[in-house]
Amino acid sequence: MCDSAPVSTDRYQYPYPSATTAVEHPFDGLDFERRPLNEMRSRSQEFFDLMDRRRSVRMLSDEPVPIELIEAAVRTASTAPSGAHQQPWQFVAISDPAIKREIRLAAEAEERVNYEENRMNESWQRELAPLGTDWHKEFLEISPWIVVLFEERYGIRDDRSKRTHYYVKESCGIAAGMFIAALHNMGLATLTHTPSPMAFLTRVLERGANERPFVLFPIGYPVDGCQVPRLQRKELDQILTVRSAPQSS
Ligand SMILES: Cc1cc2nc3c(=O)[nH]c(=O)nc-3n(C[C@H](O)[C@H](O)[C@H](O)COP(=O)(O)O)c2cc1C
Repeated sequence: MCDSAPVSTDRYQYPYPSATTAVEHPFDGLDFERRPLNEMRSRSQEFFDLMDRRRSVRMLSDEPVPIELIEAAVRTASTAPSGAHQQPWQFVAISDPAIKREIRLAAEAEERVNYEENRMNESWQRELAPLGTDWHKEFLEISPWIVVLFEERYGIRDDRSKRTHYYVKESCGIAAGMFIAALHNMGLATLTHTPSPMAFLTRVLERGANERPFVLFPIGYPVDGCQVPRLQRKELDQILTVRSAPQSS
């Protein structure tokens, strides 16, 4: 429920939902907690500090991770906004060593062509050089979990007819971000991995024709002494443009 609403709806000429919609579809009061400004500041700083420590990890250990943590991250990811609330995503969580091995071998076969046979052009390879990545993907076999996020290009109704999905990539991108944040928040590490082309994942994981691999996440704990590339993130003034009303003097 909205707590004592500090802002009225008076300015709205067309309140949402419209009277017509409200009789045709169910609506609920928003569950929203209004917080004091100082609490908002400290929470925003704490969340930034937490997220600023997230790094992509390419040396994951084989230490087991309980499935309930993977489930919790998927549940969080699925709270993401999505076009027309279609939630056009499917997550496949794999701990079976035989399947992880199959994925590793197939990913390495594709990545070997990317790196060694120049399917990635020179400029791309130059951009990747500071990351030190190559075609070896041992972490796909060593990490306790691989989660593959598939985008549902279209839905399939009970009568087998196709249901068009809208903004599939945008929706899956947001869900992926929330999945990564959930893992990081609970103390797990992952890598956003796209061993492209990723069509082999549809075959290996026996997924339907309406699904396309979107991103693959090896998940676990970093090995002791794990190293990450020294990266700098863009400063706020490089990524934010603010357009406020001019100050009146
Ligand atoms: C869409 C996307 C695809 C990526 N694909 C790969 C990949 O295939 N292999 C890899 O090692 N890193 C991959 N990365 C990870 C990036 O290299 C990494 O996020 C970036 O270098 C910044 O490092 P950080 O995640 O530690 O902040 C990918 C990241 C994104 C967002």
